[in-house]
Amino acid sequence: MKLEKDNIFTTQDSVRDFQFDGKVVKVFGDMIVRSVPFYDHVQSTIAEMANSFYIPGTKIYDLGCSLAESSIKMAEKLPEDCEIIGIDNSEAMVISARERIEGLKLNHKIRIQHGSIVDSLPKDSASVVVMSLALQFIRPIQRQKIIENIYKSLKPGGALFVFEKILLEDSLLNRTFIDQYYAFKESNGYSAEETLRKRLSLENVLIPYTIPENINLLECAGFDHISTFFQWMNFAAFVAVKKKEGEQNVKI
Ligand SMILES: C[S@@+](CC[C@H](N)C(=O)[O-])C[C@H]1O[C@@H](n2cnc3c(N)ncnc32)[C@H](O)[C@@H]1O
Repeated sequence: MKLEKDNIFTTQDSVRDFQFDGKVVKVFGDMIVRSVPFYDHVQSTIAEMANSFYIPGTKIYDLGCSLAESSIKMAEKLPEDCEIIGIDNSEAMVISARERIEGLKLNHKIRIQHGSIVDSLPKDSASVVVMSLALQFIRPIQRQKIIENIYKSLKPGGALFVFEKILLEDSLLNRTFIDQYYAFKESNGYSAEETLRKRLSLENVLIPYTIPENINLLECAGFDHISTFFQWMNFAAFVAVKKKEGEQNVKI
């Protein structure tokens, strides 16, 4: 990925709501690794686990795919004939993601569609669905329906992976974790002013849930096996599995 430095919030005087427009797309590769702790590690872990839930002949969806990092990591792990579909509603992202896939000669495995996560996926078509840093951008009122649609799109035995920025229920720890996160951003070259401007810009756009709220969404949609598999401060990743036909869910 060509890494153009993220300087979106270095000079911006009036802060407006964050958008995944052409300006952001240009610097997105740099922005994401400098803004999300353990980004590469979580992507690789999702790809590893996707490999064990993948059912040959089914589809893999990467919802809110941006530049298709999750799709690319999965394509490296999954069989040659796998079919990965990345979906994003930012036209600029879709154009860049397609260029990236083309450059990596992965067109035979990954297809990028311009569309909304809110639209339902074909029923019983998938064995793996990934929402990496995407659910947090969906209006809360729409989240349950989306997770239910994903559940319906999965074959028994299939899995959903969700990576999110989270809130802590405990206000003291919430503040402490956010301070640690800002220190992480500072160590990656973001000034305190840039971090503040970005926070204001994201305020009405990125709405994090707590771990229990995310787990509740997954449980209410019908998922049978649910757990976090990663947490660093105010970031967590979840896996939710639809049980196989005839499987008994045994609690330890
Ligand atoms: C932080 S980025 C996701 C990053 C990417 N999944 C990754 O891990 O590198 C969020 C993406 O979700 C997309 N998005 C937000 N709302 C969407 C919606 N309703 N439908 C489709 N894409 C959406 C944005 O355009 C953006 O590209």
